[in-house]
Amino acid sequence: MSQIKQLPKLIATEADVTPIVLAAMANTDDPRLRQLVASLVTHLHQFVAETRPTEQEFEFGLRWLAALGHHTDISNNEVVLAADVLGVSTLVDLINNDGRQGETMSALLGPFYRGEAPVCAAGDCISRAGTPGPSLFFSGRVTGADGQPLVGATLDVWQASPIGLYENQDATQADFNLRGKFTTDAAGKFAFQSVRPAGYPVPTNGPVGDLLRAQNRTPMRPAHIHFIVSAPGHKTLITQVFFDQAAALANDVVFGAKQQLVGSFIEHTGPHPAYPDATPPFYTSDYEFKLVVGTPCFPVPPITGKQAGGHE
Ligand code: BEZ
Ligand code: FE
Repeated sequence: MSQIKQLPKLIATEADVTPIVLAAMANTDDPRLRQLVASLVTHLHQFVAETRPTEQEFEFGLRWLAALGHHTDISNNEVVLAADVLGVSTLVDLINNDGRQGETMSALLGPFYRGEAPVCAAGDCISRAGTPGPSLFFSGRVTGADGQPLVGATLDVWQASPIGLYENQDATQADFNLRGKFTTDAAGKFAFQSVRPAGYPVPTNGPVGDLLRAQNRTPMRPAHIHFIVSAPGHKTLITQVFFDQAAALANDVVFGAKQQLVGSFIEHTGPHPAYPDATPPFYTSDYEFKLVVGTPCFPVPPITGKQAGGHE
């Protein structure tokens, strides 16, 4: 008796595509990878079916994605930037860090974290090459969620200059300018000197800039200082402390500003006995970071260096 072999079904119509693609991926060994990619395919196909792109629009979209890679190098990460301006980074941040255990809220790492910042002593100035701008004296404490000081906690700090450029974007700044690592003392306290950061536009010379212009959006971030605060036995906190007007905070191009992270920066227009060497006007700020018990975990730096000539 001859046996009729049933051939697998070939794609014939639009409706066949998603189930056949999902079936092709069903043998993925890692269950989490299987779930993530199946969900991605399902939503991506739904998006395409709903928006019905022309072939020209599809090509344009693929070229935009490829350009993210072409604009990524040791000193700029356009892929991270794209996730940020689309609000995806903030969504992932809030899913993983909801602040419900009394800890300080987190905020985006952003594309300009380098790692390997110089280790500094308490009170050191991270404006290494005398970056012009008003001085800032930033101090504070690191505690557990119970308010007890954390001794020997590390704060990895980085910020933009008073003209809104990170050192990796600015050939006039010294390598690792406005970056440093500090440690808390026996009372959980830390202090450093710097210059007042300015708000700045995210890089707009790549595909993300093209998108922002097409959307009539501001490329600006409000002024802020980045911190990665870590201590043994505690969940690492990646955050930013903001220093700007309400409108700038509300219009943050990467949706990163949170009320709890707005710092109090005090302007001193005359001499102050606690800062005898400071030239007015200068600023002081004090902020308390609260960590929760957990496992320390550090991000992979999105950039690793400074490109000769900088960006833009
Ligand atoms: C930053 O704060 O450094 C940053 C965050 C997201 C996009 C661009 C910059
Ligand atoms: Fe920043």
